[in-house]
Amino acid sequence: MKNCFFCILFPLIFSFHKNDKRFDNKDQALYKNADFPVGVAIKIKRLKNDAIYRGLVREQFNSFTAENIMKPSYLHPEKDVFYFDDADYLAEFCKKNNKRLHGHTLVWHKSLPSWVENFKGNKAAWEAMLKEHVKTIVIHYKGFINSWDVVNEAFNDDGSLRKNIWLKNIGESYIEKSFIYANEADPTAKLFYNDFNLEASRTKLNTVLQFVADLKSRGIKIDGIGMQMHVKHYYPDINAINQAAFKVQENGLLVHYSELSVSLNKKNKSLTLTNEMLTLQKKKIKEIVEGYMKLKKNAQFGITIWGLSDPAVAWQRDKNIDWPFLYDQNYNPKPAYYGFLEALTEKTGS
Ligand code: XIL
Repeated sequence: MKNCFFCILFPLIFSFHKNDKRFDNKDQALYKNADFPVGVAIKIKRLKNDAIYRGLVREQFNSFTAENIMKPSYLHPEKDVFYFDDADYLAEFCKKNNKRLHGHTLVWHKSLPSWVENFKGNKAAWEAMLKEHVKTIVIHYKGFINSWDVVNEAFNDDGSLRKNIWLKNIGESYIEKSFIYANEADPTAKLFYNDFNLEASRTKLNTVLQFVADLKSRGIKIDGIGMQMHVKHYYPDINAINQAAFKVQENGLLVHYSELSVSLNKKNKSLTLTNEMLTLQKKKIKEIVEGYMKLKKNAQFGITIWGLSDPAVAWQRDKNIDWPFLYDQNYNPKPAYYGFLEALTEKTGS
């Protein structure tokens, strides 16, 4: 009787497991098929509490970026208080599992702690405060984190500098100062300027590249551009994306697709997800990865997806619920996942 019970139970468990697409991807792991780092933005709560999430990010990706917990308001909540616990947890996880951790982000107009917003002082005081902020964080992770988004989203689409608290109190030099401080703190770290719409707005891309070239000509270290790549399945077109990435490469900079998401939701309309949309998303992801693979090997810093699973909001243009990632809400791989994988395994890029 007992034997019979197990005879029935074991094959049953095994077949459930076998048919569960969440668990059949071990050999298909994205990063194992790629010759560039494949990354994911990490939600710390899920990493701590959700075993399936933890298993999947470990199995599929070899580069991690904190989605939120390494932003200024998290790491530096009070003027004299740094809070590293959560980011240290993530760093430990990465160490243990041999994953790269990319630092995101030191200087931004968002996720500002209120003490920065209320900070009073002249230009020199602001610079000293910025310096302490950047250096303390970079030094804390020195030797483990080898790359940073130093400045995030400093430009508008029309090429003008974004009016933010740093520009107001320090002037345009806050950007180069941030890079100088980060480099002083860790001379071996790769330093990135990160922004959105670089693949869509030529004006913005050209301005950023000119700005960076000027910094470099004055001996300031900057290694790469994070193209966030919050794109839509229908926009921008793949040629525009590829041309933008090539331009970054031609400027001698590393190319990081730093926050890839492919939205399906059109202009403030919350749509129902259809198979057709999923197929279009798959096509777009595949094209994006194929294009990226045509860059020079030494320019490929990696492709990072801005989340593991749906749903999410789109981060720019509109704020609707969307399905921009590679896994669905039950952690099953979507067609987009297979689009990414096919691009890697068909090796059209090499
Ligand atoms: C977003 C996160 O994904 C959200 O959870 C958070 O509420 C806001 O920030 N550009 C960036 C990222 O550089 O840090 C942003 O991340 C998305 C846009």
